[in-house]
Amino acid sequence: MGGRFISFEGIDGAGKSTHIEALAQRWRAAGQEVVLTREPGGTDLAERLRDQVLHTAMDPLTEALLVFAARRDHLREVIRPALAAGHTVLCDRFTDATFAYQGGGRGFDPHVLATLEGWVQEGLQPALTVWFDLPAATAAGRRAAARTPDRFEQQDTDFFERVRAGYQARLEQDPGRFVRLDAARTRDEVWAQLVTELEQRGW
Ligand code: TYD
Repeated sequence: MGGRFISFEGIDGAGKSTHIEALAQRWRAAGQEVVLTREPGGTDLAERLRDQVLHTAMDPLTEALLVFAARRDHLREVIRPALAAGHTVLCDRFTDATFAYQGGGRGFDPHVLATLEGWVQEGLQPALTVWFDLPAATAAGRRAAARTPDRFEQQDTDFFERVRAGYQARLEQDPGRFVRLDAARTRDEVWAQLVTELEQRGW
């Protein structure tokens, strides 16, 4: 039996990372094998590609090809083997981020992204995608306190509203896979909402 594959999404500043770590701790404490990973990244090669994507100027097609190349390596080396071993995989961003950032944010053709998605994933999708949703202006206020911005974090509020709309479009295409959390609420409230959603699935 395959393990559980869950991805976590949201615009920069949504606060998802702390919740992913807390969830990993909670399930490990309950005796589960949990692989916590991220995209772009999760393997040596994919982390090198991440570094380029986040810090080197490039056109949207190059950006899309690099994130899918990183994803291919990550799937082959980490995600598929972990799922085959029955482990839970918690992935900080996955393909919905490509549709949201390269598609929504950069305006790149979603049909090309869908073709790449098919080649790279061969039908594999997360069992659940948790979307930490909040207005771009709220996220910008949170990011202002954080470290040096990368190529995405430097973008303006309009860019992040387009990314947000990109996530909304993905949710509408596959509503059964998504849970949308109101990430504008306090950290404790968001955590409680997340735990409730998971418990409702018997997780
Ligand atoms: P992020 O996951 O927010 O990590 P950190 O918390 O360390 O900043 O950063 C990854 C960035 O990469 C984020 O701005 C979104 C972007 N990204 C894409 O543009 N496309 C993708 O397919 C993925 C997975 C991420």
